[in-house]
Formats: sequence, C-alpha cells, structure tokens
Amino acid sequence: MDIVRIFDTTLRDGEQSPGFSMSVPEKIRMAHQLESLGVDVIESGFPIASKGDLEGVRAVCREIRGCTVAALARARRDDIDAALEGLAAAAHPRLHTFLATSDLHLHYKLRLTREECLEAISNNVRYARERCAEVEFSAEDASRTEIGFLCEAVGRAVKAGATIINLPDTVGYAVPEEYAAMFRHVIDYLDGANGITLSAHCHDDLGLGVANTLAAVQAGVRQLELTINGIGERAGNAALEEVVVLLNVRQATLGVNTNVHLDQLYAASRLLTEITGAQVAPNKAIVGANAFAHEAGIHQDGILKNPLTYEIISPEAVGVPKRLLVLGKHSGRNALRATLVDLGYQPSQEELDECYKRVVTLADESKNVTNRDVLAIAHQVMRKRGSETKVAAE
Ligand code: KIV
Ligand code: ZN
Repeated sequence: MDIVRIFDTTLRDGEQSPGFSMSVPEKIRMAHQLESLGVDVIESGFPIASKGDLEGVRAVCREIRGCTVAALARARRDDIDAALEGLAAAAHPRLHTFLATSDLHLHYKLRLTREECLEAISNNVRYARERCAEVEFSAEDASRTEIGFLCEAVGRAVKAGATIINLPDTVGYAVPEEYAAMFRHVIDYLDGANGITLSAHCHDDLGLGVANTLAAVQAGVRQLELTINGIGERAGNAALEEVVVLLNVRQATLGVNTNVHLDQLYAASRLLTEITGAQVAPNKAIVGANAFAHEAGIHQDGILKNPLTYEIISPEAVGVPKRLLVLGKHSGRNALRATLVDLGYQPSQEELDECYKRVVTLADESKNVTNRDVLAIAHQVMRKRGSETKVAAE
C-alpha cells in the first residue's frame, strides 16, 4: 500500500486566519497532539511575520523530535534567513519557500516579469538548499498559472535543489479534473518526477478542498497539506480529519493510506477548539457533534441491529467516545428502550409505549430530550403503574 505523507499546516495556514491565532504555549500543546496523531510534517509558522511567529517555530522545533518541522518563507533571503533561524533546533527541519507563478499575481501583486520570477526561484531555492537539507517549493496560485510556465517554474525549483514541489489551489478555484490534470502534466514534464514528492494544498472557497485533494492523490500526489477542522485562509483548507479518514475508509479502492493514527483525530479537533474557542459545525464530517448521532427512528433501529447500516466508520475508530442515539420527535421506540436500559431500567412493552408517548410530546415542545428528562419520565411512568423495574441504582 502506497503511503501518502500528511503535512499539517494548522499552525501556519490555519493560525494565520482570523480568530485562530495561538500563543507559543498553545502552539506547543497543539504540536504535541499533532505528533501523537502521526502526521509526517508540522508546518510551525512563518518566522518573518512576527517575533511571536519566530518564537513559536523555535519552540515547536525544540519540542518535536518525532516528525519533520517546516517553516515558511517567501522566496527572499531575509525571509529564508528568518525561517532558518526558527528551524535551527529542529531534529528534522524543512525550509518551505514559495513564490506566486500566475500572471495575475506576478503582474498585480509582485510586479515581476516571468523571467524575474524564474530567476527568483532559482536563486532562492538554491540559497535555501545550501543551508537546509530539505527544501519544499510552492508555486503560489499554481492552479491559475499557465501550465507551460508552471512547468518551467517547477523545473527551476527542482534544478536548484527542491525535492518537494507543492502546487496549491491558493484561492480554491480549481475543479477536481483540472487540478488532477495539472499534476499529471507536471509529472510528465519531470519525466515521472522520480525522487520528487508532489504536494497538494487546497483551499475550500468553492467547498471543493477535499475533492481536489483526492483528485491530486489519484493523479500521483504523495504529500497533502491539510489543517485540523479545516481552518485556514478565508473558507479554510481541506480538513485533515476528512482526508485521512477518506483515504483509510476507501483504501481498497484508492490503493493508498496514511501514517495517521485515526483514534487521535477527535482529540486533535477538540484541543484546537479548546485553544481557539472556535466550535466546529454540528454536521461537520468526522468531528462534528452530529457525526455519530442518530435521531431518525429508522436509522436508530438500523444502528442498534448493526452499526454498519448507517455508519461507515465507528466513532471509537476516530476517537469519538460514543455514538449518540438522540431522543427527539423523529426517534423510535428501540432507541428509547436502549436508553432506558443504559439508564438501568427494563421497561415492559406497555411502559415503553407510555414513556415513548411522553418523550415525543416533550420533544415536540423542546428541541432536545436529555437523559435527565428520560429519567424523570421513566420514574413517573414506572412508579405510576406500581411496577418499577429499575435494576440499577440511579
Ligand atoms: O495557499 C497557498 O498558496 C499557501 C502557500 C503559501 C503554500 O498557503
Ligand atoms: Zn494556503
């Protein structure tokens, strides 16, 4: 089975988006969780951006010994020097340098000609490679770059010593077929890209971050840049938890997997939420509160008979403590019976019917029926009938 490397950029692309900044101690906590998760690379920050960013990179490098730590730099010497300073203590450092290659960015943002862009790539990647054993080059806005020029830019980066080439969909504009075609073209241009790792980095502006990431894998890409909970610039990056579970669940079809320990995913998501205070949507795949919650009676019945009827992976496999059978107006008697048994009751059919009637009435009035409500109802019903059959202490 081919392994796809996971490059986590929660502490860089994620951290640089509004509402997600982290202090140095928070970055260290998060980095340790990412290491436990088994990611291959942690991008720890953008050292030229601020003293705090430089300190964060330094601290993560000191603490993390089990995986590669990357730091970002524009393709400029002062940026690269700052990143190298940050990476000095890393066990496995990676210098990640980038330059935009699309005409739009070159003309309006950088005021560079294509020739100047190629020169800057050659000079700065070489400068970085002479000072760091592992260099990644990103062609910012690659997905909107004219393909012939993109190949030239990638060729220059490889010639100057970059061994990881990242082709981002910086503004989340690509659709899967064209993103995959771009990689196939570049791999052809590099004669199969032996010794070079191609990398995907997808933003989610059109909600296609994960789909584009998958298309890249199918085109031969073997490094994916992702963030926990999908945080990142604007609409965010492709969510790490979604991509790694996708590759795991569909490994027989896709022929690839990752080194990630799936049972650490929920802890990583919760830690990020705790640190930043930003909650994930309840319907968020894998880590949302409803990802393993079932309210519809038909679904609850299926789950109780065999969880595979309505779950493609178990909650425990991704570290979620327990699936929830939510009691609401759509839920069925079987789920209520399971809840009552969990709470220590063994209701007769008649008692179950009465409890069910009361639960549905309550659910119609208030959105949630809690275990406390169920306990109160069970108590009333069973006492009223003089046949309380509770078997466990409340
Ligand atoms: O989205 C992007 O292009 C980036 C690069 C700096 C890798 O984040
Ligand atoms: Zn990005």
